[in-house]
Amino acid sequence: MKALILAGGAGTRLRPITHTRAKQLVPVANKPILFYGIEAMVEAGITEIGVIVGDTRDEVMGALGDGSAFGAAITYIPQDEPLGLAHCVLIAHDFLGDHEFVMYLGDNLLEQDLGAFVSAFATARSGAAPPAAQILLKQVPDPHRFGIATLDAEGHVVELVEKPDDPPSDLALVGVYLFDPTIHEAVAAIEPSARGELEITDAIQWLIDAGRRVRCELLTGWWIDTGKLTPLLEANRLLLEKLERRIDGTVDGASVLDGRVVVAEGAEVINSTIRGPVAIGAGTRVVDSFIGPFSAIGNRCEVVNSEIEHSVVMDDSKVIDIPRLEDSLIGSDAVVARSKLRPRALRLMVGDHCQIDVE
Ligand code: DAU
Repeated sequence: MKALILAGGAGTRLRPITHTRAKQLVPVANKPILFYGIEAMVEAGITEIGVIVGDTRDEVMGALGDGSAFGAAITYIPQDEPLGLAHCVLIAHDFLGDHEFVMYLGDNLLEQDLGAFVSAFATARSGAAPPAAQILLKQVPDPHRFGIATLDAEGHVVELVEKPDDPPSDLALVGVYLFDPTIHEAVAAIEPSARGELEITDAIQWLIDAGRRVRCELLTGWWIDTGKLTPLLEANRLLLEKLERRIDGTVDGASVLDGRVVVAEGAEVINSTIRGPVAIGAGTRVVDSFIGPFSAIGNRCEVVNSEIEHSVVMDDSKVIDIPRLEDSLIGSDAVVARSKLRPRALRLMVGDHCQIDVE
């Protein structure tokens, strides 16, 4: 089996961060989102991985390299425009050949073990009515944001619709799909949707209409489509929950580290309190500060005389003299500081599409 990971697309909902960075490379718990997907593939025994790349290809290729760091072999498949998930399958045909494959959306994070999902497909494929595809479903409170499945009384998938205004159910398609080679016929047969994309939901519907079986499983555990700030912070929280305490950096005698805290190599904690789960990246300095639960501070950052909680601070950034920063995502190489001379004044340089909440 091969894997196809989708890391192209635009990332408009995480602007301004995604003006300068692939949305799949935003870190959660101090690791790029995309790395979790690659690692899950390798753990499931799938090491031949095709990665769809778009405008941010240089950055994605720089981060993943040839895949050997993950124990995988990566082939990059450039997509000139984000023409849809089924378009990704269309342009990956040469790479995929006649193999069965797992397709994984590079901005999705899920708790469930991929190995079990993959082996369930293999078992079903060796049975009497082999499925052509297998999808993963999860009940969601906001079905109009996702691809939605309708099941019949026996639990068979009968209809799929992409982001419906009037959702027929609350069962969303999670961004992990398994296919046999008939999907190539399907993606070649469908037409672009009203939003101009070749939809994978339409391709799977084509399989159903052609009389092929589509198997589904209900996801146990959490799943997050990280494309927006609130789910991204939620993913950060859920992954930090799994953190194991590890102190490789230096912590002075005046500091307190409480609970599951990671202080990476070369990091320094001076006269500060860190209440886990918290990850502090390599080479970062935390001085006279409080870092509260569910915060991930990247590499080479500086946090001085500040309080941070439930936030992601990306590499090379500074947070200085800030009484309290919470529920925030700070990009890389950014400075958030308060003037000592005029502490109540806000001096800002704010990019397009930002939101600043001041209390
Ligand atoms: O997250 C699950 C949802 O993902 C499903 O419920 C939907 O049925 C499915 O269409 C998809 O919807 P999204 O609107 O969330 O897809 P998005 O445009 O965010 O793209 C998902 C990933 O695929 C993302 O990492 C970018 C990448 N991508 C997307 C497109 C449209 C590409 O590489 N190329 C593309 O052409």
